[in-house]
Amino acid sequence: MKILVTGGAGFIGSAFVRLSLAERAEVRIVNLDKLTYAGNLENLVSVAGDPRYRFIRGDVCDAELVDRLFVEERPEAVIHFAAESHVDRSILSPAPVFETNLRGTFTLLEAARRHGVGLFLQVSTDEVYGSIEPPAEAEESYPLRPSSPYSASKAGADLLALSYWTTYRVPVIVTRASNNYGPYQFPEKLIPLMISNALEDRPLPIYGDGLQVRDWLYVDDHCRALWAVLERGRRGEIYNIGGSCSLPNREVVRRILRATGKPESLMQSVADRPGHDRRYALSSAKVTTETGWRPQVGFESGLAATIRWYQENRDWVMRVKSGEYRDYYARNYENRETELGSLVR
Ligand code: NAD
Ligand code: DAU
Repeated sequence: MKILVTGGAGFIGSAFVRLSLAERAEVRIVNLDKLTYAGNLENLVSVAGDPRYRFIRGDVCDAELVDRLFVEERPEAVIHFAAESHVDRSILSPAPVFETNLRGTFTLLEAARRHGVGLFLQVSTDEVYGSIEPPAEAEESYPLRPSSPYSASKAGADLLALSYWTTYRVPVIVTRASNNYGPYQFPEKLIPLMISNALEDRPLPIYGDGLQVRDWLYVDDHCRALWAVLERGRRGEIYNIGGSCSLPNREVVRRILRATGKPESLMQSVADRPGHDRRYALSSAKVTTETGWRPQVGFESGLAATIRWYQENRDWVMRVKSGEYRDYYARNYENRETELGSLVR
């Protein structure tokens, strides 16, 4: 099976590429990635020489390139990961979010419509449902109430993709996963940021009261769910993929500090994220019933493996935290008032 993966040099995309080539002899992968700040070919060193793998640096908004790839490669499936994926960046600079997440998805769907494809898998997020009041869990039919430019762009892209199924019978499936964590995650997201700051004895910025709840999903569990949907999912359907592990942010950070042997005094309350969703909660009953998938990695062992990876890969962390990252960090954190003073040093 030949798969066109977009955004395969990012966190989840690269995990999907590594896992698929390691576990499935029959798979060939073409990876189209623009290599933005979040794309990193170091994440793919282990597969770079594999004859079943081809990398193309390019933009999913480049219609000519995307068209040529469909003609040259004739992919049987598209797994569309490429996105601007960080909520805080989408608040600071929304323009690239709408360009990549909406125009990029449109460009790929158009190519799929013109050239045909066996499956177009739109990799989406639980954030499209917005904040969920306890004790409810969002099912796939739940209303869409995105709060941030990021989640609004993903909701729009999901609807566009589903319209291509309804109107043109492009065989689309949309998956909506909860918060992923694991090795190779860019240290702008909560877990890798807190691990890497703790290892460097830097302050850990907690937005607002830190009691916001997220559902944590180990990245390899997410990739296995995508395979389950690819093989057994129904076209035109949406599948939620949750980790069955809901925790308040402060508790996640406390566990990281305990595991790294660092003091709780490193936690610093800072001004809240604008429009911050209080709680995400998903029902994954549909994907489990229809495909048999359920998460295998518990949070304790997943977090321990993740912390170990960041401890053992300090060079990777150092490299991705230099350059552009410093500007982003200053822009996002230097104007947040804290109890103890500046976060940026
Ligand atoms: P990431 O930011 O780590 O990686 C994004 C990748 O897309 C990078 O390699 C980047 O270079 C590439 N990219 C960005 N713009 C591009 C463009 N215009 N053309 C081609 N490539 C481009 O993201 P991630 O965390 O791996 O997320 C992957 C997907 O999964 C996204 O669609 C995201 O919305 C979704 N998702 C993420 C999570 C999560 O917790 N991280 C949860 C649910 C869904
Ligand atoms: O829910 C799925 C989504 O999870 C994905 O669609 C997104 O791509 C991914 O970025 C993630 O979004 P979140 O906004 O939930 O993740 P983030 O890691 O940015 O934040 C998790 C929680 O931690 C959130 O409540 C905000 C809080 N937080 C985050 C950062 C970066 C802090 O308190 N301090 C921080 O410095």
